[in-house]
Amino acid sequence: MLSHEDNAKLTRVGPGTPLGALFRRYWIPAAMTADVPEPGGAPARVKLLGEKLVVYRDPEGTLGLMKEHCPHRGASLFYGRNEVGGLRCLYHGWKMGGCGALLETPPEPASSPFTARLRHTAYKVREAGGIIWAYMGPAEAEPPFPRFPWLDLPAENLLPVKMYQHNNWLQGCEGDLDPAHPNYLHRDFQVDDRESWAAAGWQSIAMLMNDGAPEIICEETPYLMRVAAIRNTGDPATAYVRTTEWAAPFYAYIATGPHECQLFKAWQPIDDETCFTFYIHFDPAKPVDREGAYRNWGHQPTQPGWRTDHTLENRHFQDRSMMGHNFSGIVGAAIQDRAVQESMGFIYDRTQEHLGTSDRAVVFYRRLLLKLMDQLAAGHAAALPGLDPALDYRQRGSSVHMPRSRDWHEADAVLAALERGEALPALA
Ligand code: FES
Ligand SMILES: [Fe+2]
Repeated sequence: MLSHEDNAKLTRVGPGTPLGALFRRYWIPAAMTADVPEPGGAPARVKLLGEKLVVYRDPEGTLGLMKEHCPHRGASLFYGRNEVGGLRCLYHGWKMGGCGALLETPPEPASSPFTARLRHTAYKVREAGGIIWAYMGPAEAEPPFPRFPWLDLPAENLLPVKMYQHNNWLQGCEGDLDPAHPNYLHRDFQVDDRESWAAAGWQSIAMLMNDGAPEIICEETPYLMRVAAIRNTGDPATAYVRTTEWAAPFYAYIATGPHECQLFKAWQPIDDETCFTFYIHFDPAKPVDREGAYRNWGHQPTQPGWRTDHTLENRHFQDRSMMGHNFSGIVGAAIQDRAVQESMGFIYDRTQEHLGTSDRAVVFYRRLLLKLMDQLAAGHAAALPGLDPALDYRQRGSSVHMPRSRDWHEADAVLAALERGEALPALA
């Protein structure tokens, strides 16, 4: 349970809020490449951390991200002319550059101080992995761009999915921090889980169904944190270990097994009450099975809103006649997650919750974020996790069976050995 004060601190992301300040120290997802596919094409509206923005790709292909409303009298630059070097407002022709410079104010006399003195809010952007990333923090504190290894994969080895959710970002993120919920929410007990999940390449999700009360262990890392979920198997000498690697502020590598298509998760807080969830399916060795991913996760939204038709009003198309074999009666793991997360209300009142041992990672993450917000407010930004240029960002979540006698930290080594084809890896 959280106090009202801490719940507000962990959920409010606008300018001037402690969490907003923390998120503005990192590169975060702002849009998809597909939002502005054509040079010189239409700008797209973006709301990010409560700020109304537009993203555009100028006729020479340069991306820009700036405040939506014109600094003159506020017309939306969503309608603006897309010109080389910036956007020109339709109303009176003011032109704003991607770096925030006011380039032209044609109705004003040549002596006007506007172009020299006035600046428009604009943010740095990078494009990688089908995603447009933004840095919204102080210019002097710009962090290194996190070189997640999947960013460099060929397009066929990568399936980046963005989906709208009508709930606060933390409700969503806490799903990624919750190793026990798949045994219930994502269970399909007539069609054998081993068949339905494994057939689509998700062997590791099928395997976790054996034990619905995992032991959960958390620890801090230079990136942010790591979570291990350790499950019983049919053999008392063998544990099923799943690790999730987290990078600040809300990136997670979900546990996957040897040669399995991997999953990176990210969140885009749109404002306090809505967010986009990102599922990045990737496989360094082979093309991603797109149809399989859409079928199992159900996350195939339509542009431009990146929404699916599922809502609270239509109960996410829950079909109670299916509940004899499908725990939730809802099709698709991403929709099952969204149904419970949206059902909690736009911003869940965490003074009402009753946390148990299965919520250990949720609690650990909240405490860590509260600590980091205090650290930043106290002027210790340099010590924030994930910002050290020496970090190589080669993380991975591991899903392996291993001897109970071994330290779970060896899960990565076991996975690497299995991928090399060693049946019984030699461990440290
Ligand atoms: S409102 Fe944009 S130029 Fe006047
Ligand atoms: Fe889930």
